Amino acid sequence: MRTKVAIIGAGPAGLLLGRLLDKAGIETVILERRSQDYVLGRIRAGVLEQGTVELLDKAGVSERLHADGLIHDGVELCFDGDKHRFNFHELIGRTVTVYGQTEVTRDLMQARDASGAKTIYEAENVSLHDFDSDKPKVRYLKDGVEHELACDFIAGCDGYHGVARASVPAGSIRKFERVYPFGWLGILVDRPPVAEELIYAHHERGFALCSMRSPTRSRYYVQVPADEQVQEWSDDRFWDELRRRVDEETADNLVTGPSIEKSIAPLRSFVAEPLRFGRLFLAGDAAHIVPPTGAKGLNLAASDVGALAEAFIAFYAERSSAGIDGYSARVLSRIWKAERFSWWMTSILHTFPDTDAFSRRIQRAEFDYLRSSEAAARSLAENYTGLPM
Ligand code: APR
Ligand code: PHB
Repeated sequence: MRTKVAIIGAGPAGLLLGRLLDKAGIETVILERRSQDYVLGRIRAGVLEQGTVELLDKAGVSERLHADGLIHDGVELCFDGDKHRFNFHELIGRTVTVYGQTEVTRDLMQARDASGAKTIYEAENVSLHDFDSDKPKVRYLKDGVEHELACDFIAGCDGYHGVARASVPAGSIRKFERVYPFGWLGILVDRPPVAEELIYAHHERGFALCSMRSPTRSRYYVQVPADEQVQEWSDDRFWDELRRRVDEETADNLVTGPSIEKSIAPLRSFVAEPLRFGRLFLAGDAAHIVPPTGAKGLNLAASDVGALAEAFIAFYAERSSAGIDGYSARVLSRIWKAERFSWWMTSILHTFPDTDAFSRRIQRAEFDYLRSSEAAARSLAENYTGLPM
């Protein structure tokens, strides 16, 4: 079997890259380790920057997003019960769209299935070969039978634990990492959200976030220690903890109900450099991880593959390798801006095991500065709603 671009991973990065290339007439095959239902069962974040929405428009997969997505003009930050609204639209004329990553994935899968482009789910033992030559190959097992896919390029869109980054010789790649000593316990519930916009709350007991998926479905998180077990958290315990960490008005207005999903996600910052190794390119979570506090994970994945698609399109249209040569440096500059913002949001909003009285005052001072300085608020707005390339 042969294709132009072999894409490893059918998460949002792989599917969006496949879609952008498909629209440009460049053939791709996606190899995904899991089943389609498994991929669609993962609950992830749900805040889209305007640039991400525009890319999904370009990919022709935004009809449901425009019908069901919720446009938010701003967010609220709450510090020990003091709440302040940051109106991004008023500050800088930009908004964000709340629409679940699971739905983005579903829309991309539907478009790919309809176009006839090939996706091989439950592809086992995927391995990458000869990407340092101009004849790269990918091998995999499907239903116990070994297959080989010859291609021009390999796109590693297989997430943090994928095989693509792991296939690069150790001496050719540098990794930058910070693991945070806590995770987020999240629940999904079929009840209306507590407020119209997201509320990010800092409290002595830890961070909390009130988010949503739709006018009838909410998503809430509380910070928990890194080694916490989800079985330790009944719904009642979760709601009690959440109420203690937010302001009184929010606590009073919470509409609780039985959780339909409950899980703990660890928090990590990670960047690999570079992101191109001969004919292998890394994009999305395979290339970098951000803690979810800045809501950047999906948006970064989208901007990576937007740039990668442009590079491949230029290669096939003009036989120009300028785009593929420049890919790594181009996306890394935006990645590090998102890393900085996500790290900063995480630092001011969480409690750390070693947070002493001084650090708490500094966190408080950051919040007061954001509240009182229009320049600081504009910077928050610019970073949250989108970052330049
Ligand atoms: N072979 C084939 N597929 C693999 C392999 C492998 N060895 N390893 C992982 N995969 C698949 C996973 O099953 C998953 O479906 O690659 C896909 C990677 O998808 P994601 O983890 O969703 O990563 P990405 O597409 O980069 O999306 C980034 O996801 O985690 C969030 O915050 C993150 O929003 C961001 C987005
Ligand atoms: C979510 O709705 O899951 C969500 C929203 C904003 C974040 C992180 C997660 O920063």
